[in-house]
Amino acid sequence: MSGTFKVLALGGDHIGPEVVAAGLQVLRQVADQFGVAVEIEEDLLGGASWDVHGTFCTDAVAAKARAADAILVGAVGGPEWDNIRIAGPITETDGLTRLRIELDVYNALRPARAWPALLHRTPYRQEVVEGADLLVVRENAGGIYYGEPRGREVLGDGQERAFEISEYRTGEVERIARCAFEAARGRGGHVTSLDKSNVMESGKLWRETVARIGREEYPDIQLRHLLMDYALFAVARAPQEFDVLLADNLFGDLISDLVAVVSGALGMLPSATLPAAARVGHPVKGGLYEPTHGSAPDISGQGVANPIGTILSVAMMFEYGFGLPAAARAIEQAVDRVLAAGLAPPDLGGTDGTATITQAILRNLHPIP
Ligand code: NAI
Ligand code: MG
Repeated sequence: MSGTFKVLALGGDHIGPEVVAAGLQVLRQVADQFGVAVEIEEDLLGGASWDVHGTFCTDAVAAKARAADAILVGAVGGPEWDNIRIAGPITETDGLTRLRIELDVYNALRPARAWPALLHRTPYRQEVVEGADLLVVRENAGGIYYGEPRGREVLGDGQERAFEISEYRTGEVERIARCAFEAARGRGGHVTSLDKSNVMESGKLWRETVARIGREEYPDIQLRHLLMDYALFAVARAPQEFDVLLADNLFGDLISDLVAVVSGALGMLPSATLPAAARVGHPVKGGLYEPTHGSAPDISGQGVANPIGTILSVAMMFEYGFGLPAAARAIEQAVDRVLAAGLAPPDLGGTDGTATITQAILRNLHPIP
């Protein structure tokens, strides 16, 4: 591996800096073990930035993020800053949203797997969930959350009308479809694309476009289409039968939370949001890596936050940001060993704190031959 990867670490608020510190320890050790040069810079985001600079994301942080190879984020927000958040437009009041726009990320990857040691913490019977290993690929920059026009108006009869539009262009669907097919190639799996093509025009375009990209560019990848409502039932009933789940912004939001159930706890879940398709062996610059949980003000400062979601986000950074899937697998195996040995933070029903879990993962990290 040549060159140095530049990583910007933004702890954010409450438990954010605690879990990011844990993630950075793993990042440094794995980089050493795999002979990767990384240069890490830390800065402020969210309320922590507001308290010092009077803004949730400074221009300097935005510039550093644009220059970085990868950005690790903890979580932002807390009751201290809620009123400020409400006062202005979202891009100015939410540091994370500004970062997403600055980085032009559109491809949100949300993996969830059934950890052998945590099967009893899921609501599933063991034989139904064992081995489940899912990756949601969510279009994260378009669709109904961004379609124009949107708004509210008062009608002649005095009622209010509120509206937004679900809109997709061919190019937007093509690029997210490629992300899903590429991800499936890396996992040796198959893609299930979710839509409501029976009732939505944007859903029809979605299905036609995904089918065409699959046929023309990825004939080696199995593709099936499911209607979103049935998909919720099918995935909940038999999570082992699915691999990559491709969905638009709204449906991806919903299915991400559904698949998270197989992992057993919120603190276990990582994410990556990328500005391009991650092709096997071709790193993507400028991805955002973060646990899916929030800043957990209720447990901050106690040293009990589960760092695993952040550590697994670092694994995703090695896989997609640095093009080193072997390093990602090494981190996942270390997590697996630590859980199998019976260690557990409080959100998994145990008593082991952030430092204990992190140290155990560091001790169990071995390069995969
Ligand atoms: P949350 O995810 O912070 O917490 C929900 C519950 O899960 C809490 O009981 C918390 O203690 C627990 N929890 C979360 N992560 C944990 C971890 N790693 N280890 C152990 N327990 C953990 O969600 P909540 O309470 O709705 O939001 C708190 C703040 O976080 C709010 O200000 C919210 O806006 C912000 N938030 C930020 C996000 C981000 O930066 N991406 C995402 C979600 C919420
Ligand atoms: Mg959500």
